[in-house]
Amino acid sequence: MEKSSEDKLSKIVSLAKRRGFVYQGSEIYGGFAGTYDFGPLGVVLRRNIVDAWLRSMQMHENIALLDSSIFTAPRVWEASGHVSGFNDPLVVCDSCHSKLRADHLLKDIEVNADERMTEDELNELFDKHRDKLKCSVCGKKKFGKVVQKSLLATSTLGSFDENDEHVYLRGETAQGIFINFKNVLDTGFYSVPFGIAQVGKVFRNEISPRQFLFRKREFEQMEMQYFVRPQDAKEAYEMWKKERMEYYIGLGISQKKLRFNQHENLVFYAKDAWDIEYEYPFGWDELEGIHNRGDYDLRQHQKFSGVDLSVLDEKTNDRYVPNVVETSAGLDRTFLMLLADAYEEDEMNGEKRVVLRFSPNIAPIKVAVFPLLRNKPELVEKARGIYKNIKKDIPDSMWDDHGNIGKRYRRQDEIGTPYCVTVDFETLEDNTVTVRDRDTGKQERVAVDELLGALSLEKKR
Ligand code: GAP
Repeated sequence: MEKSSEDKLSKIVSLAKRRGFVYQGSEIYGGFAGTYDFGPLGVVLRRNIVDAWLRSMQMHENIALLDSSIFTAPRVWEASGHVSGFNDPLVVCDSCHSKLRADHLLKDIEVNADERMTEDELNELFDKHRDKLKCSVCGKKKFGKVVQKSLLATSTLGSFDENDEHVYLRGETAQGIFINFKNVLDTGFYSVPFGIAQVGKVFRNEISPRQFLFRKREFEQMEMQYFVRPQDAKEAYEMWKKERMEYYIGLGISQKKLRFNQHENLVFYAKDAWDIEYEYPFGWDELEGIHNRGDYDLRQHQKFSGVDLSVLDEKTNDRYVPNVVETSAGLDRTFLMLLADAYEEDEMNGEKRVVLRFSPNIAPIKVAVFPLLRNKPELVEKARGIYKNIKKDIPDSMWDDHGNIGKRYRRQDEIGTPYCVTVDFETLEDNTVTVRDRDTGKQERVAVDELLGALSLEKKR
């Protein structure tokens, strides 16, 4: 990573902690790799992301919602192919003992390791380039053998005897959707084409969790599986690709930092796969995967469960197993992208500042209300009344009376609050307040009765 990019990421990490967006998991115990905790503003930002995603799905009349359990019968993961085929190649540095992804080391020297390679094939490829490969932690060039490691995390939930079968924590939310396909269909409200969408926690034994929220061991997915007739899969795939890109632009993300990238090497279930990529501070990488999964998953679950998952084509009277177009977005990667995209350092009124230029629909705090002075009871009382009213309509608003006005503006800029409302002595005379715009710094006097209308909280960028 270039120095300036590294700097930007570390500035984001430090702002995220300082202002209560994200903390290292188990921080007071020295941390627990691959986990993060979300603070007061982080929780609200996550909720805003989920709301925006759910809205984008519920705009369609034929998308059903689901909340399936994290734990499932172990057979689910055998049927899905994850038990045998959901692996990452591990290699250990002989010098510093860091555990590293062999495919990432190869990628650093522009050699592509196909996801479908066997352990032997990977070792052959690794050996061929061994003299050029360097440990990404200590820079030394001595490694052991490449070993395929399962990404599935296991648990003893429900087992009380060491001989009991262990269970898997879900490695993607999609499988919960496939195993409930028939249940949702049987409600009688949906017929092909239709989608099932869900948001939920996912667990993966990532070998090297890294780059802040980008690669975690416990993370959250927002997935939608769209069930179509096989002959309609291609068209549906193109429709969803287009729609998902438009969704990110609608979140206010800079278009020049978004792109599509088609997978050269397909994972075991996919017929076609494109990623929407974002240019993070550490470079272009995946944000969301859009996959044409064919009928692989429903057929596998049909085979393993013995339950018929075919549907009737009412025109031809034939039964068929639907194809699946999947859109799979990461909540944590969206969070990281939003922070990176919104982060700016600029100068306002001759003073340097850090500002998060969130679009108001995503900003965790939409408006902050201040009394000009905290030791003037008449100002505080008036400001409290105005704040109470705003809070009824805009729950994501904040009271702030610490430090002087300049400090409050800097603090609100740092968390991306689009508007600050100040109650001053003029307010007591004419019932007007100043509204200050985060992006321009311009201040306008607005009548208290017209305040809500004056805060244009639709998309700003
Ligand atoms: N159901 C398909 C699936 O799970 P994936 O490409 O493995 O596909 C989909 O994951 C999305 O989940 C990714 O685009 C990314 O946003 C997110 N994701 C995957 N692994 C992640 C990790 N270790 N940490 C954070 N987000 C992750």
